[in-house]
Amino acid sequence: MNQDSPSEEVLLARIDRKRLPRHIAIVMDGNGRWAKRRGLPRQVGHRAGVNTVREIVRASGELGLETLTLFAFSTENWKRPQWEVNALMRLLVQTVRSEVKEINRSNVRITVSGRWDELPDATREAIGYAIEQTAGNSGLRLNLALNYGGRRELIEAAQRISRDVLDGKFPPEAIDENLFEKYLQTAGLLDPDLFIRTSGEMRISNFLLYQLAYTEIVVSPVYWPDFSRQHFYEAILDYQLRERRFGLTGDQVRHSS
Ligand code: FPP
Repeated sequence: MNQDSPSEEVLLARIDRKRLPRHIAIVMDGNGRWAKRRGLPRQVGHRAGVNTVREIVRASGELGLETLTLFAFSTENWKRPQWEVNALMRLLVQTVRSEVKEINRSNVRITVSGRWDELPDATREAIGYAIEQTAGNSGLRLNLALNYGGRRELIEAAQRISRDVLDGKFPPEAIDENLFEKYLQTAGLLDPDLFIRTSGEMRISNFLLYQLAYTEIVVSPVYWPDFSRQHFYEAILDYQLRERRFGLTGDQVRHSS
């Protein structure tokens, strides 16, 4: 934020509460570079990233968003050095354990997209506990993408659908968007309206490949640990300036609204 940027309060007041995105999905990128720039180990960047997670979850709850999906660990992240994978897994356990009380107080419900059954025991148990403890909450749905990969999700959906066709549950002709979506790891969630990626990278990185079909994209140049409420509100304001066309012409969209 430079000194001329409007304050958090001014930005918040500009947001049209009637046209909020219902689901925001975020790739939290730049923790490693944030740390490197300060001459610190990468895991310090991830730890700083948790403070941003806390602030953005609070802001999302206060705004009344329905769903916030955070890409916390991808199927490709296993290829990082073992010490970094271990540090991320430990951080997940610590964060979930220390935050679950506030999450519950804020009526936030935790869910997961991704093969979290494959996570190390301690991480799996901590996540399972958080899901269970928050299952009855009716506020913001905080959906963590954990051991998630878009291609794997689509391949596994294809495998399970094929099995159900072979078992005679339905014919191939019955496969439509409605049925297909039930086999995705986001079953029951709306598609994201807004996708935010930090650190300036213009990539989707195997995130929600099916679900992002018509999502508005905002790329913020700042590293995730520096991503503040101001940046978040600015991304929502940017989204509110967009004309969502879903394949129609601009004239068609304007005449139908
Ligand atoms: C990307 O930065 C970040 C990750 C792979 C991990 C994100 C995890 C957290 C913020 C902490 C835990 C999250 C929750 C939800 C409790 P990078 O390491 O790729 O950064 P770089 O591109 O600068 O190296």
